[in-house]
Amino acid sequence: MNMECRNANAVKDGKAILSNRWSGWICAICVIAVSTAAVSATSPEPSLKEIMQGLRVDLVEVTDGLLTGDFDQVVQAAARISQHPPISDAQAQLIASELGAEMAGFEQFDKIVHELSLSMTAAAKQRNRERTIADYQQMVNGCLACHTAYQSRVTAALGTRP
Ligand code: HEC
Repeated sequence: MNMECRNANAVKDGKAILSNRWSGWICAICVIAVSTAAVSATSPEPSLKEIMQGLRVDLVEVTDGLLTGDFDQVVQAAARISQHPPISDAQAQLIASELGAEMAGFEQFDKIVHELSLSMTAAAKQRNRERTIADYQQMVNGCLACHTAYQSRVTAALGTRP
């Protein structure tokens, strides 16, 4: 959850938008311009709940790709998990004041899921089924472990109860 992730997303989006219309070096310049504009844009940051709803869609797509043997789908969806948008400063502060010293544990789970999603992306690129599945299982454990430890407290602290 940092600027690096946000930049990665912006660049990705920039490429996706531009690749239809431009090519070669013109495209490269546009990608830089668009990603800079996207980072400095004042559009509201997604809430933690919206970030999580994105992760849910991505996880379903990873699962579906594994079940059907579509490794390209796994690569794309796993990469999206690793590039999820950062949590806003305002929500991060609310969470930190609720969790106190336990904030480190919360961040640790985020890091574990992030690293496993990267490892899963790489394994799926190599068509390494065994490692992709092992990373997937550990990553889901990470999602659920963070929820077990913190979800209800954080939902209460953020006032986002369904
Ligand atoms: C660092 C802790 C953490 C990790 C890791 C984590 N979550 Fe969450 N998740 C939360 C918290 C906290 C909430 C509650 C957010 C709220 O209520 O605003 C949540 C809520 C959700 C929700 C419910 C959203 C809703 O509409 O109420 C889904 C779905 C979800 N997470 C999916 C995932 C998936 C999939 C992963 C793994 C790829 C994951 N989460 C990893 C902390 C985490």
